[in-house]
Parts: sequence; C-alpha cells; structure tokens
Amino acid sequence: MFAVKSLCAVAVLASSVAAQAKFQYGTPNPNMAGVVGRNSNGPTNPKTPQENTPINQTSMARLVSVNSVDDWCIYGPPENGQTIANVEGEVVAYCTKPRNNARVIPDGTVTAAHFVKTPLYVQLMALGDFTKIGFAPGDQGGELDPHGATNMGNPVGGNVTSNVSGKDVFYEEWMNFVSVDQACIRICIAGTDVAPTPLECQHTLDEMGCNWVMPGNYADNSFDTCDGDAAYPPGLFPQPDGSTSTFQQYFSSVYTAPGGDVQTFINASPDQQTPSAAYSLPSTSQCTTASSIANGIKSLVSGSSSSAMML
Ligand SMILES: *[C@@H]1O[C@H](CO)[C@@H](O)[C@H](O)[C@H]1NC(C)=O
Ligand SMILES: *[C@@H]1O[C@H](CO)[C@@H](O)[C@H](O)[C@H]1NC(C)=O
Ligand SMILES: *[C@@H]1O[C@H](CO)[C@@H](O)[C@H](O)[C@H]1NC(C)=O
Repeated sequence: MFAVKSLCAVAVLASSVAAQAKFQYGTPNPNMAGVVGRNSNGPTNPKTPQENTPINQTSMARLVSVNSVDDWCIYGPPENGQTIANVEGEVVAYCTKPRNNARVIPDGTVTAAHFVKTPLYVQLMALGDFTKIGFAPGDQGGELDPHGATNMGNPVGGNVTSNVSGKDVFYEEWMNFVSVDQACIRICIAGTDVAPTPLECQHTLDEMGCNWVMPGNYADNSFDTCDGDAAYPPGLFPQPDGSTSTFQQYFSSVYTAPGGDVQTFINASPDQQTPSAAYSLPSTSQCTTASSIANGIKSLVSGSSSSAMML
C-alpha cells in the first residue's frame, strides 16, 4: 500500500518531529473488517471479560482488558524469573485488578501509568519493577501480538478487550511490548481506509521498543488519563515531498531455540538508516491525573495475597 523508499531521506526526521504534523486518517469506523475479534477466544480465558474474579496467581488465563488508567492488563511470564523472548507463546495476563481469572499485579510493581484514548486505538504506557510479576532481572523485553510464528497469537490463546466504546468488545489487532521496567499496549478500536487496524497496530517492529512504536507519555511516578490524536502508523514517515517512506525490519536469520525456531531481524537493510524516533508525538488533551493505582495485593506469593482476597 505504501511504497518502500530508501530511508536515506529519513535524515530529515528531526525537523518533522518538530512540525508534529497531525495524521489525516479519515473517519474512524468501528465496524469495518479487522476491528472486532470474531474468531474463538483462548481456551484458558473466561468467555467474556469479568471483574472481581477470584485471585489465582498461578492462573494461565490470557485475556487482557485495557479499560482505564487503573483497569488494565499486560502479558508476563508464566514462571518466575523467565526471559520474555523465550516464552512469548506462553505468557499470561497480569491485571491491575482481580479480573478475567487472571493474575493480579501486586502493589509496588507499577510506578507510572498513562492511559490514552484516541479515535483509532487505546494505549496504556506503564513503568515499574516487573521482576515482581516474574520478569528476569535485566530483561530487555519482547513483543506480543495476535499473530506469532504460527499465526495463532503470541501468546497462543491470547485475546484482548476494551470497554472504551461503552461496552466490552473483543478486538482483533493489538500489540504489547514488555520488558523488566517498561510496558506499552495498543489496542486498535476502529479503522479507516488509510489506517486499517493492521497498519495502526503494526506488529512487525519488535526490535524498536515502546517509545518508537507507541509514542506517548513515558514519564515515571505519575498516573493520568488523556484523550489523544492517533499517531502515524508505526514505521511510516511522511516526507516533505508528500510521499511516505516505510521503515521495516529485515529478516536476518533463524535459530533453533528450545521452544522452536525463532526468526531474528535486523533493523534496516544496509542502505537504510534506522529512524531515531517515531514520526511525531501525538498531542493529548483533557488529561486527568490519579495519585496511584493500588489494589491492596501485596505480592504474587499466594500466602501474602490471601489477605487481599478478603477485600
Ligand atoms: C482471539 O485471538 C485469536 C488469535 O489472534 C483471534 O484469531 C481471534 O479472533 C480472537 N478472538 C476474539 C474473540 O477476539
Ligand atoms: C489457578 O489456575 C491454575 C492454572 O489454570 C489451575 O490449575 C488452578 O486450579 C487454579 N487455582 C484455583 C484455586 O482456581
Ligand atoms: C469500563 O470498566 C470500568 C471498570 O474498570 C467501569 O468502571 C466502567 O464503568 C466501564 N465502562 C463502561 C462504559 O462499561
């Protein structure tokens, strides 16, 4: 759809960021193909998103909901101390509240959360100490999405919902980057002809990280909710001449890992430069702040979480 051009032109990027050009994406359509999830939901998930489910810190449920600054989930390792890239097919949902039969993120884990609702997606950005939900110390992170090596999802059986439309809806396209100290998740809630959900929730830029793929507010020690403009689709860079250049990761090699073959990517072909940042930082408005998102659950260890079950 977009011509792949030499990214030598991307040297002009810095000035484009300053211009903060708004993405002219057209009229959002929540009913177009590729928005609502219609195939079956993962076998370890409840049939629908549910609040106040029993706390089970060994749950294998993989239903993620992203509803608000204090009601969201991300994927994390099933066993303590795992490196996410080795277990992308088996990660489980960790939520800020007891919901979806999933594990609950204990207090003291999350140090910042920023929730943005845009016409095309909802996005949650969080910072914290994710060793408290099983990440290996120093883990550089991984990328989860509904495709994966077998197109059955990473994790297999992973599904996502949001209620920002006014009711709980399963969505087809999303991406979640997680590392030991940072997480971001974008769920595409509407599409347009120029920004269909696979483009706005582009899932093939695994190596680039949260700030690059999901530009937004990553400030620590703060919690807020904003409305926002939709960002340019990840990897697309409008050029001064009106064309659009596309940054892609290039396939590099396959190596054999315990969980199966893993493809590795290099960030750019030899004649491309890797852009240093997203095309623009979308503007936000109507922000409200919160002081924290505590839930009273002290740790993942079942003994100390049991008191929280009486809440
Ligand atoms: C659950 O995820 C699978 C794999 O990505 C997807 O095909 C399916 O449509 C999703 N189901 C729902 C209800 O969203
Ligand atoms: C917690 O989840 C695990 C994995 O799904 C399951 O085997 C176990 O029975 C659950 N425990 C409770 C108390 O429901
Ligand atoms: C979405 O879920 C939250 C719970 O986190 C609830 O307070 C809110 O009312 C829900 N919104 C809608 C529109 O259902």
